[in-house]
Parts: sequence; structure tokens; C-alpha cells
Amino acid sequence: MIEHTNEAIRNYYKELIVSSDLTKAILYSVDAGGKRLRPLLFLMLLEGFGIALNNDHYSIAASLEMIHTGSLIHDDLPAMDNDDYRRGQLTNHKKFDEATAILAGDALFLDAFGLLASSKLAPDKVVQLISFLSDASGSRGMVGGQMLDVKGEHQALKEADLVAIHTNKTGKLLTFPFIAAGIVSDLDEKGMTLLQKAGQLVGLAFQVRDDILDVTADFSELGKTPKKDIFAEKTTYPSLFGLEKSTSILNQALDDALGIFESFEKAYQFDRQAIKTIIERLRLHA
Ligand code: IPE
Ligand code: IPE
Ligand code: MG
Ligand code: MG
Ligand code: MG
Repeated sequence: MIEHTNEAIRNYYKELIVSSDLTKAILYSVDAGGKRLRPLLFLMLLEGFGIALNNDHYSIAASLEMIHTGSLIHDDLPAMDNDDYRRGQLTNHKKFDEATAILAGDALFLDAFGLLASSKLAPDKVVQLISFLSDASGSRGMVGGQMLDVKGEHQALKEADLVAIHTNKTGKLLTFPFIAAGIVSDLDEKGMTLLQKAGQLVGLAFQVRDDILDVTADFSELGKTPKKDIFAEKTTYPSLFGLEKSTSILNQALDDALGIFESFEKAYQFDRQAIKTIIERLRLHA
């Protein structure tokens, strides 16, 4: 499943190469691994709805992972979080240079839409997916949230500010696999609203988890430098609420998301086993 998604990304960079320096830098970050959580959520949800996976689905999963990988390359730049390590290896700008890293991120953001547009799903579905992916990624989503994050450094933010940052910089892109699965499986409006809610809960949980791990985990677990948020004086869930309360916020959000899938089982003949396994992996214990 993950291998098919990786292959869809790699195939995109096999043809029409203008600069091999650029594709090398792009594939350096793509091939560095990563948990592939967003593609997995999307593909597992489709399986839950009983859909047989094909290359069109892998292209959607790949386009989402391309945006995510581009966001990490830019997030690590000296002007942003200034990180030296990502996915267990040197960050893109450390391995190559800043101009290359900026362009590799730019390319991943834009190529993702080209790959998505090449999907052979019904055209109205493809247009909807492109529109939702744009909303989740650009000024209305991830990039907007990154701007709030940068502006929030060295400031004592309130909970509402932090929720706005997390919802946008991480939550919206993590909600995309849920919305996309609903679009692909022709889910009704009520189901779509519930799926979106589940995505928002998992999205919030995920950034709370990332904030907790920044404090508690080491380099070998993270593949990136620990305690970066403390150093950059970022407001995070642990800085605002402490580790114990942050962990219970995380676990509560996961419980609530799982509750939605329980209700799905009867209403939509949904098999929740696979998505449950993925969501359970995000749990932490205080
Ligand atoms: C890290 O995302 C950045 C955040 C949005 C918190 P992931 O933890 O999903 O990173 P990879 O893809 O596994 O490297
Ligand atoms: C990043 O949040 C969110 C993105 C949009 C990439 P972080 O800055 O906390 O992610 P890490 O900890 O560097 O992976
Ligand atoms: Mg950041
Ligand atoms: Mg960062
Ligand atoms: Mg972080």
C-alpha cells in the first residue's frame, strides 16, 4: 500500500525532467521515509468502505504526501524552524543548499496537483479533490498556519491562538485524507460532516502528539532534533497545559474520533478495524 504510493511519486519524477539536480533533491526527501500517515489514513478509509484500491487512489495518496514532504522541507529552512535533521538524515538545505530546498518544496507543492489531475476518477470528483487539497495546503490551511506559527514565536499565546495554529498548520492537511475518502466513496452529506469531524480530531491529536514528543522523545525516536520548540520559545500544548493534561487531550481526541467510526459501522457498512489500528498508533501514555 505504502510501496504503491511511493511508486506513484517516483514515477512522476521519471519523465519530463528539466533539472536532474532538482529531482535528486526532491527524491532525497521523499525517499527518506517518514511514517506516511496521511496516505495510510486515506487508503485505510477506502478499504473500510469496501473499495478495491487502484492506481488512481495511490495517485491521490501520493499527491497528499508530496504536499506534506514539501511542507517539511520548507519548515526546516533557516528562515523557518532552522532544523538540521529530518526523517533521520540531514535536512534538504543542509544536504544541498537553501535555493535547492526552496525549489524542491515549490516543485512538490505544484507537482502534487499535476499528479492529482492525472487521476482517471470521474472528472467532478477530481476537481473536488483538487479544490479541497488546495484549501488544506495553501493560505487557507497549512501555509496560513505556518505563518501564524512563525508570528507566534517568543510570545505567550492563549489556547485559542494555539488551536488556530494547530488547526491550520497540521489539522487541515490531516483532515484531507478523511474528506478525500468521503468524496471517492460517494458518501452522503451527513457522513461527510462526520468524517471531517474525525479528521479534525485526528489532526489536532497529531500536532499535540508532535508537541509532546518534542519534549519527551530523543533523536533516535524522532529522526529530528528534539526540544526545538522550547529553544524557539514556541507556545505548545505541553508549554500551556503540561505533559499530563496534553496527553489526556491527545487521547480524548483519539477516543472521540474512534467513536465516530463506531457509528459508521452500522450506518455505512464500514469496517473500522484498519483505521482503528492506525489511530491507536497515535496514542501516548503520560
Ligand atoms: C511532522 O509530520 C510534521 C507535523 C505536521 C507535525 P510527520 O510526523 O507526519 O512526519 P513524517 O512524514 O513521519 O516524517
Ligand atoms: C510543522 O510543525 C507543521 C508543518 C506544516 C510542516 P512542526 O514545526 O512542529 O513540525 P516538526 O516538529 O518540525 O516536524
Ligand atoms: Mg514548524
Ligand atoms: Mg519544525
Ligand atoms: Mg514539532
